[in-house]
Amino acid sequence: MLDQINELRNLIKSFQIENENSLEEFRIKFLSKKGHINDLFEQFKLISGEEKREVGKQLNILRQETEAILESAKEKYEKKSNTQTQAFDNSLPVNAFKIGSLHPINLVKKEIIDIFNKIGFSVAYGPEIEDEWHNFSSLNFAENHPARDMQDTFFVNQDPQGNFALRTHTSSVQIRLMENERPPIRSLMPGRVYRNEAVSARSNCFFHQIEGLYIDENVSFADLKQTLYYFVSQFFGEREIRFRPSYFPFTEPSAEMDIFLGTATEQDYRLTKGTGWLEILGCGMVDPNVLINCKIDPEKYSGFAFGMGIDRITMLKYGIKDIRQMFENDLRFLQQF
Ligand code: DAH
Repeated sequence: MLDQINELRNLIKSFQIENENSLEEFRIKFLSKKGHINDLFEQFKLISGEEKREVGKQLNILRQETEAILESAKEKYEKKSNTQTQAFDNSLPVNAFKIGSLHPINLVKKEIIDIFNKIGFSVAYGPEIEDEWHNFSSLNFAENHPARDMQDTFFVNQDPQGNFALRTHTSSVQIRLMENERPPIRSLMPGRVYRNEAVSARSNCFFHQIEGLYIDENVSFADLKQTLYYFVSQFFGEREIRFRPSYFPFTEPSAEMDIFLGTATEQDYRLTKGTGWLEILGCGMVDPNVLINCKIDPEKYSGFAFGMGIDRITMLKYGIKDIRQMFENDLRFLQQF
């Protein structure tokens, strides 16, 4: 048996431990329960007499030697891998913390507000659930006007006390302002509006508008045109604009304003239906009836108003093809802004 012990000792000494894997191999091969040293201990149980003492002693020495080899190799290789995983380079930049970004609608809204801020417009907000007076009647909508129809408007309740609906436009906020403030009034009113429309790539059952209102003495249509021209030049760059006569119950005269995109690109051709002109907003001089409804003297004061859809301008600005994408909360979309 002493020969076997020496043979095993040679084997152990010639074993090359050079990494964590061979370290583990070494442990299993020699020191585990089924390893070579334990095998010899099993055999040792069977011998007797004089030999037993010497063999026992030698076996124990071998085991200690082997354990010592294992320990020193462990220090070398285990430590190495530890320091590798814990290596800490404090000059590395920290992981960027994802902090989200503004929604494209808000980006455009903010840009529009900044432009009008520079010429003295403040910002006002109103409720999204409106009564019929603020959404329709005060704005000079006739009792039987089709916009009041269920087909266009989401009514929240209909009862004899008065009907409430999700506002169909931000023009209702004009009324709230004029009821509560005296001229001069110069304000922008952004917000979400709702209409009972079929949802498609180009229209949604809710969208966003920004309303503008300026009431003072001697406000004229020329002021309206110049103000909108200023806005277009700031937002879209120098571009031709045109006003087309139109009709809104709350303005007289009324107009729609187009900007010239041209038809050079396929997208511009499509957006403008081949005309080169894209409608951007509705506007006009505030109808005297609306001023009277808000207890403002139309003999003394006049004013203009305008309203534009933020969603369409956002789609135009960023080349978004489907309005629904903006409200699906898909981070892959939102992270682009
Ligand atoms: N309220 C109109 C709409 O939703 C937009 C509008 C047109 C607003 C003319 C105005 C205006 O203030 O003067 O279609």
